[in-house]
Amino acid sequence: MEKGFFIVFEGPDRSGKSTQAALLKAWLEENGFDVILTREPGGTALSEQVRKILLDPNGKVSPLAELFLFSASRSQHTAEIIKPAIAAGKIVISDRFTLSTEAYQGYGRGLPLDEIQTINNIASESIQPDLTILFDIPEQEFEKRMRAEETKNGTDRFESEHLDFRSKIHKAYKDFAQRKGIKKIDASKSIDDIRKEVLRLVKEIIIK
Ligand code: TYD
Repeated sequence: MEKGFFIVFEGPDRSGKSTQAALLKAWLEENGFDVILTREPGGTALSEQVRKILLDPNGKVSPLAELFLFSASRSQHTAEIIKPAIAAGKIVISDRFTLSTEAYQGYGRGLPLDEIQTINNIASESIQPDLTILFDIPEQEFEKRMRAEETKNGTDRFESEHLDFRSKIHKAYKDFAQRKGIKKIDASKSIDDIRKEVLRLVKEIIIK
């Protein structure tokens, strides 16, 4: 049996990647491909439990504990879902993977990037996506959204911390977009334009 493909969607919160991941799955299935759509943190029973801990707004988690929880979730996800599905010839689409940890725990929380990369390699058993599609929010659009939030919520300490974190994540994905092999998509375009662009990129790797 032929080896499958591993496609990762990356980008900041609310960049529209989850909608596009679902549209891609539907298209691939209509065209006869066997597809698994999964997400991080999540994708397995253990990882969904970890997801609950991580996304609980009242939970207290240190940056380092957060890194290890995301990594534990990834390790289970890789071993239980991603690797077996690729080996069985399926197309795996994951909504977020290792770049999210570099962005959120590295740029966002300030943990050292080289250490995160090492832990990412261990947790993901060094598997590399065949395609990473990065949803990029263009600078002007990002500033517009930030100003709209400031006006809506004011800038108390909590809000300005939140906006500061968002800027760090934005910067992270700007930097990653320059890396070799990463395909950037303009997330401010229409759903249909983005869908077509995603399909074009995916066809390049699956149809030879
Ligand atoms: P989720 O509700 O799935 O957001 P999204 O739809 O934007 O993916 O929440 C996932 C959150 O977890 C998101 O804010 C990014 C964050 N995250 C990390 O901080 N580190 C990681 O390694 C991963 C995979 C996600």
